[in-house]
Amino acid sequence: MGPKFICRKPGPKSVEILERDRKVISPSLTREYSFVFKKAKGCHVWDVDGRKYLDFSAGVAVMNIGHTNPVIEKAIHQQAKNAIHAGFSDFYAELPVKFVEYLLTFLPKHLNKAFLSNSGTESVEAAYKLARWHTNKKWVIAFKPSFHGRTMASLSLTNAKPVQKERFYPFLPVKHALYPYCYRCPFKNKEHDACTNLYLDVLEQKISECDKDLAAIFLEPIAGEGGYIVPPKDFVQGVKELCDKYDILLCDDEVQSGCYRTGEFLAIENFDVKPDIVSLSKAIGGGIPLGATVANEKIMDWLPGSHANTFGGNLLACSAGISTLKFMREKKLGQNATKIGNYMMRRLYEMKERYELIGDVRGIGLMIGVEIVKDKKTKEYGVKERTDILCKASEKGLLLLPAGISSIRICPPLILTKKQADLGLDIFEDSVKEIC
Ligand SMILES: Cc1ncc(COP(=O)(O)O)c(C=O)c1O
Repeated sequence: MGPKFICRKPGPKSVEILERDRKVISPSLTREYSFVFKKAKGCHVWDVDGRKYLDFSAGVAVMNIGHTNPVIEKAIHQQAKNAIHAGFSDFYAELPVKFVEYLLTFLPKHLNKAFLSNSGTESVEAAYKLARWHTNKKWVIAFKPSFHGRTMASLSLTNAKPVQKERFYPFLPVKHALYPYCYRCPFKNKEHDACTNLYLDVLEQKISECDKDLAAIFLEPIAGEGGYIVPPKDFVQGVKELCDKYDILLCDDEVQSGCYRTGEFLAIENFDVKPDIVSLSKAIGGGIPLGATVANEKIMDWLPGSHANTFGGNLLACSAGISTLKFMREKKLGQNATKIGNYMMRRLYEMKERYELIGDVRGIGLMIGVEIVKDKKTKEYGVKERTDILCKASEKGLLLLPAGISSIRICPPLILTKKQADLGLDIFEDSVKEIC
């Protein structure tokens, strides 16, 4: 069996690599279409056959500072001349300390200690273990839908696609409450306030089921893989109030939504809520694997040996991390995300009025979801239509990713200009028009 082409047949070099990939790479990965990456710069990527694409996926929300940013190239070159790896879990080194000191200047003041790792799932795994260590309690609550990663604690929290969990049972003790999905609210015909209270009632019910043995609630301030779903502000605030009422830790998963993607450094800041533990990764290393779990020193009270790793505090990653954060601050990427994001949302709202296939548009900053439906009245998921739009857009030179059952996520690098935003949205609109 040859490679499966979801969109049109790719160029000859791509076909050759797809064939080799099929022979040696684990089939567990999910590739939406047959794009074979060659190189990237700023907001553009090229495939191995020389086709150029505007990138509205940012390497899955990683390249916030733009692809192949010279500041990262410089940072890792310079550091590599001195040392690459220090064995930070067993020896001391200045660079990881410097990185964390600098990272803390971006965060609310009460967050003053960090555990370093290499990926999103590890930064969530560390948050989970820290919450259980600190409280010495067993249960945690997460939401449906949610995505927190694929190692066993993160996967226990995750509740998105069945295939992600199938055959991996049993999981750790996690209960799932309902994430507010206003476009598909299960509490139909209720006023907004009433709905929020009903979602919070479900959550409070889950809290009571944990019998005072509940360590933490894990929350994505915007559900990422679940469909770029934005919860109402009073819901997020209500979650925090319940955490305070029952003395539960609030663990904020900012792996996808953090690093200025929503305008604020942490997406949860848009909701005026202070979390107890924060998980960061993806964009924080400027493309180099890096994760950080941050909390107050009173919470980060675990003993030596209770949690550690080999590569956390890697020198190349920390050097890249410092340069990434500096670039984000100096170039005011949060402000750009808000400005360009608001502009794109206005254009997408207009498209929603024009096209039957666009059921919902939602987002904050440059974390934007567009839900594709078969028709607006029934809201039937437009699963095939979503794939067709992604394929059409890629044929026309725009790289997009799916999210949730039938949504498209728009998460470009935060350096995106208005001109590039317009070009991408023109391609997107043409693609929707053709599928309509
Ligand atoms: C919110 C969230 N948490 C955790 C993860 C897991 O990150 P990683 O794939 O780096 O393990 C992801 C990945 O998409 C994510 O979106």
